[in-house]
Amino acid sequence: MDKRNILITGGAGFIGSHVIRRFLNAHPHYNIVCVDLLTYAGNLDNLSDVINNPRFTFIKADIVDLDRMSEIIAAHNIDSIIHLAAESHVDRSILDPFAFARTNVMGTLSLLQAAKNYWEKQPEGMQGKLFYHVSTDEVYGSLEPGPDMFTETTPYSPRSPYSASKASSDHFVRAYHHTYGMPMKISNCSNNYGPNQFPEKLIPLLINNIRHNKPLPVYGEGLNVRDWLYVEDHAAAIDLIFHNGGVGETYNIGGLNEWKNIDIVKLVISITDRLLGREPGASLPLITFVTDRKGHDLRYAIDPAKLCNELGWKPSVTFEEGIEKTVEWYLANNQWLDNVTSGEYLDFYNTLYSGR
Ligand code: NAD
Ligand code: DAU
Repeated sequence: MDKRNILITGGAGFIGSHVIRRFLNAHPHYNIVCVDLLTYAGNLDNLSDVINNPRFTFIKADIVDLDRMSEIIAAHNIDSIIHLAAESHVDRSILDPFAFARTNVMGTLSLLQAAKNYWEKQPEGMQGKLFYHVSTDEVYGSLEPGPDMFTETTPYSPRSPYSASKASSDHFVRAYHHTYGMPMKISNCSNNYGPNQFPEKLIPLLINNIRHNKPLPVYGEGLNVRDWLYVEDHAAAIDLIFHNGGVGETYNIGGLNEWKNIDIVKLVISITDRLLGREPGASLPLITFVTDRKGHDLRYAIDPAKLCNELGWKPSVTFEEGIEKTVEWYLANNQWLDNVTSGEYLDFYNTLYSGR
């Protein structure tokens, strides 16, 4: 079996923690180094079950810091990078676009340059190396209602500072492949849900607010559509693409699971009320329509045909199972929710909703 030394960035965040757990469990010959700055969204509790694994090393560092990234890549003889570290919340990008350009664009560029410098110096050069960049469906823009879906050839049309920064980072990854021969793969995934997601994102925010009988903010009329995938199925797709995907290729990841926001809100209310032992519909009056997100993309929908047909991927968790497991996890881990929803998070929440 191949040994690999893999650097996973953003591993203390939502998706990264699931990717780390999967890689450590499924690949007993891999050493994993996680670099994470532990911003408000990063939490070592998300890695508590792997932190003492002898094949795992956690390093608190900023991906923008080129010297530090170079030092880490050399010290651990890194041969592959799975890059997830990012500022990931659209609403924050509307308030502070510069933070998104810094981390998502300059951070990706620093990692690319650090990897290039180290790998070019090896006797085998770029042979056997891989830069795997985790991106989003939001780079493709927004769809009208109807049957259209994003494919790998849909032209980029980012419309928020977040998606503009992710699109820019995707372009840099492709530019390093074209210009310097950097072996890379990119995947663009739809909305994830599941355990360990920071409760500024819709689904955990709803569960947390229902728990506290707080208003459930629905942007605009709640008619925007998102395509939801259970986080472990995203991690499984990353594993498959990492090992079997073509170098230089892009894969879209999604489970053909579109929902209007208002329907998701009602579904989460019904499951959470039931699990909390409340009367059916008890929390419906908490629904509060608020001013729409600026530039709110209407609809995302991913066509995963390339990933399914070429690599044989399919989601393993139905939405009914996934959403039930998700609500159960947040209610069972209410201390996690309480820990992360204090301090800096509260300041942001108050800023965001003060005008609404
Ligand atoms: P997240 O916000 O939960 O986690 C991001 C992690 O990156 C955090 O642990 C944070 O501490 C770390 N980080 C931020 N800035 C850093 C820096 N300068 N240096 C080092 N670490 C830093 O995000 P997520 O939802 O897990 O998303 C992970 C990746 O997947 C992102 O690149 C995102 O664009 C992409 N993605 C997310 C979704 C989704 O639905 N959440 C869907 C598709 C793609
Ligand atoms: O599509 C993939 C993207 O999905 C990822 O790249 C992003 O990192 C991730 O944050 C997510 O972006 P969204 O903006 O779609 O996710 P969010 O959970 O913020 O919002 C989902 C939908 O719900 C969106 O239409 C806005 C709406 N919403 C959100 C919040 C937080 C509300 O109506 N009320 C809310 O309080």
